[in-house]
Amino acid sequence: MEDLPPNPLREGLLAARRPEPLTFVLFGGGGDLSHRKIAPALYNLAVDRLLPDQFAVVGVSRQEWDDAAFRKEMAEGIVTNSRRQPVDQTIWSALAEDLHYVSGDFSDPATYRRLGKALADLPAGGNRLYYLATPPQFYGDIVRGIGTIKRGDGFSRVVVEKPFGRDLDSARRLNGAIHQVFAEEEVYRIDHYLGKETVQNVLVFRFANSIFEPVWNRNYIDQVQITAAESIGIESRASYYEGAGAMRDMLQNHILQLLCLTAMEPPGDFSPDAVRDEKVKVLRTIRPVERADMVRGQYTAGWAGGERVPGYRQESGVAPDSGTETMVAARLAVDNWRWQGVPFYVRAGKRFPKRVTEIAVVFRPAPHLPWRGATDELRPNAILIRVQPDEGITLSFGAKVPGQAVRIRSVDMDFVQGTSFTADAPEAYERLLLDAMTGVPTLFTRHDEVETAWSLLAGVLDRNGGPVEPYEAGSWGPPTAEALTARDGRYWRRP
Ligand code: BG6
Repeated sequence: MEDLPPNPLREGLLAARRPEPLTFVLFGGGGDLSHRKIAPALYNLAVDRLLPDQFAVVGVSRQEWDDAAFRKEMAEGIVTNSRRQPVDQTIWSALAEDLHYVSGDFSDPATYRRLGKALADLPAGGNRLYYLATPPQFYGDIVRGIGTIKRGDGFSRVVVEKPFGRDLDSARRLNGAIHQVFAEEEVYRIDHYLGKETVQNVLVFRFANSIFEPVWNRNYIDQVQITAAESIGIESRASYYEGAGAMRDMLQNHILQLLCLTAMEPPGDFSPDAVRDEKVKVLRTIRPVERADMVRGQYTAGWAGGERVPGYRQESGVAPDSGTETMVAARLAVDNWRWQGVPFYVRAGKRFPKRVTEIAVVFRPAPHLPWRGATDELRPNAILIRVQPDEGITLSFGAKVPGQAVRIRSVDMDFVQGTSFTADAPEAYERLLLDAMTGVPTLFTRHDEVETAWSLLAGVLDRNGGPVEPYEAGSWGPPTAEALTARDGRYWRRP
């Protein structure tokens, strides 16, 4: 038989990745994360026919719901948050039949007896993926509870949401508690930034092309800037955010992961440990952050999206004298041969002027410019990896402005993901859920990675990080953030 030409509609879909039959146990099934991210991800995997043939979800939460109430809640999550709209009723109805619910307190052993019984009644066999989508204070109880029902006839994996601990000691304790029940290969610590297409593309850009790697070092690169800016405030998450702040919420995980991918050495292959070994090596070479190299800020009332918005301390659930930072900026040094002397300026914040996440790799200026007075509009060459929005990569370089005189201005050469590829990119959670279901931990963080990341920040958490300085909502942070780069004779790029 003649070979069929590839179906263009399937371009970009992951081939042959359907997981084995399994039951997905969703702790915190009634919570915000399940509603916003997990329900839509499961639905979109169902649309792509990437869920197992025999599949069941068991939501576990304190809400006194039955299966029908849980299904209704998940349906609302999908209608509000799925990237594909309108929701296909046939696909949803088939998925809904696989959704079940167990109500109970996470610290009550009876909850796990009920859960064990519910699982035994389901036809999906012994494979289980446990997902901890609860506030972190419940992780210990839940993992112990799982220990009482974990079986040997199939795989058991656990997905743990961030924040993974709140400092080095608590992360170690949490790793210890998890390792009482799960082997490290069974633990999937999620950092959803690693599931983003553009973040994965950092490695492809660097290691699938031969033209960038020769210049990817201190000989050519002057500085790297990583920005994760959000225009939103803390929304209704005060109870979590008050205890976290931007350091724990963004810097310890998402930002350091972006830094690792930018700075790591090429792995020998793309196997989970080869990639993670290289990331850990980078983390180990980062100099522990000192107070003098960081800035913490907190937004005050200002403007966002043309509307007047309250300051952080006026948000509901926030203490009127709160010392929690809503932005952080830091200057990091990577002490190895490749990066010696190249500062990595990183910043993350809420109520910045816009939502943008990008990695800017800024090159050294040309050693000599033969055009006097013609280069005022020439900025240093840069490669910008736009993680979101407008996903893509830009190379910025100098070009002659047409005309009789020589004037040189920076111009952009653009790769725009949305126009180069027709396939819609899956959401980070779709990719990561599928990886956890199929047992591929490459894009999840290993215990030593998490612990090393905490150890870098050990000296600057909370008050040790210096005063929290006010910045107006709708600005790029307090003036001291500008000073962090200015004292090195550099400046933050305006993304
Ligand atoms: C989460 C943080 O991990 O990432 C949030 O807890 C933050 O505070 C979010 O808003 C940002 O994610 P994204 O995918 O919108 O960049």
